[in-house]
Amino acid sequence: DKGNHRHFMLKEIYEQPVVVAQTLRSYLRPLEEKVALPDMEFDLSSVERVTIVACGTAYYVGMIGKYWIERFARLPVEVDFASEFRYRDPVLLANTLGVVVSQSGETADTLAALRHMKASGVTTAGIINVPTSSMAREVDLLMPTHAGPEIGVASTKAFTCQLAVMAALAVNLARAKGRLDPDEERDIVRHLTEVPAAINAALAHDAEIEAMAGTIASARDVLYLGRGPDYPLALEGALKLKEISYIHAEGYASGEMKHGPIALIDEHVPLIVIAPSGPLFDKTVSNMHEAQARGAQVVLISDAQGLAAAGDDAVATIEMPAVHPLIAPIVYAVPVQLLAYHVAVAKGTDVDQPRNLAKSVTVE
Ligand code: M6R
Repeated sequence: DKGNHRHFMLKEIYEQPVVVAQTLRSYLRPLEEKVALPDMEFDLSSVERVTIVACGTAYYVGMIGKYWIERFARLPVEVDFASEFRYRDPVLLANTLGVVVSQSGETADTLAALRHMKASGVTTAGIINVPTSSMAREVDLLMPTHAGPEIGVASTKAFTCQLAVMAALAVNLARAKGRLDPDEERDIVRHLTEVPAAINAALAHDAEIEAMAGTIASARDVLYLGRGPDYPLALEGALKLKEISYIHAEGYASGEMKHGPIALIDEHVPLIVIAPSGPLFDKTVSNMHEAQARGAQVVLISDAQGLAAAGDDAVATIEMPAVHPLIAPIVYAVPVQLLAYHVAVAKGTDVDQPRNLAKSVTVE
């Protein structure tokens, strides 16, 4: 049932404040200001490295997880496409924690990668939305997302819930490794607790984003830029746009643009810049100005402070609430999803069931 919404995708985008809160509730202990994981039979303090394997949108969750786990737990993290991992002969050293991320829990490549890790003696954890799925049954540690059924082929609420659980995993690893002091953990819990309200504030920009969609719908190519944990979000934005609007889109790490992709820029290529204020802001905005000097039509997604600092030469802006850089990828996912949605509607595509795609890819 789509409720009052025209598509499942839009309904699922709007469910995010509730389902992310629901997911966080099972990992946060707000009174103790701590993050907790489900009971487990192994000791996270023995983990020396992490390998994350997934596909599509879930893979981008893994990339963001790499930033968080390396930053907080100081453990080396590798992230791989499940379809590559399983056909390589991956080196799996002792004390590796293998993590799979999957909405369906049935993606053939991710399931095969999970089985490969288990057969190699690796302890596995899974961030999974469907509790009865094959992966949920087979992982050593199930870390469920509570997104509820996701019907739209484009993954939206599963993505933000997966990020919430990934953050909880990063904090737990950091604590287990003795690399997180209680004050830092308290701060992180506070920032995570603010996420549902921040998602609500982001949703309030829906009409504005819809108004921009017409122009972007006429583009042939769209580029997304982000830095740090917002780089995988740039990739996610491009994937979302491609899959439902059929417009060619690419995401780049902001600093990589001048190593090639900048040659694509002209006045016909909209550039979506994801730049929350924080330590990486100035660098990304200077990459944005380089693109503007070549005629790029920029949509800048930032907070009030960032938008003021960037000046008013961005063609269009989307103002996000001020959030800690740690949680920015979760909140900034919302405008990225809404933009893809409204562009697809403007183009008249089948938003919930885009051509050539299946909700769950159970063949290799
Ligand atoms: O069910 P899974 O999370 O394992 O699915 C992985 C990908 O197939 C999925 O995220 C796909 O990329 C989405 N359609 C993206 O919106």
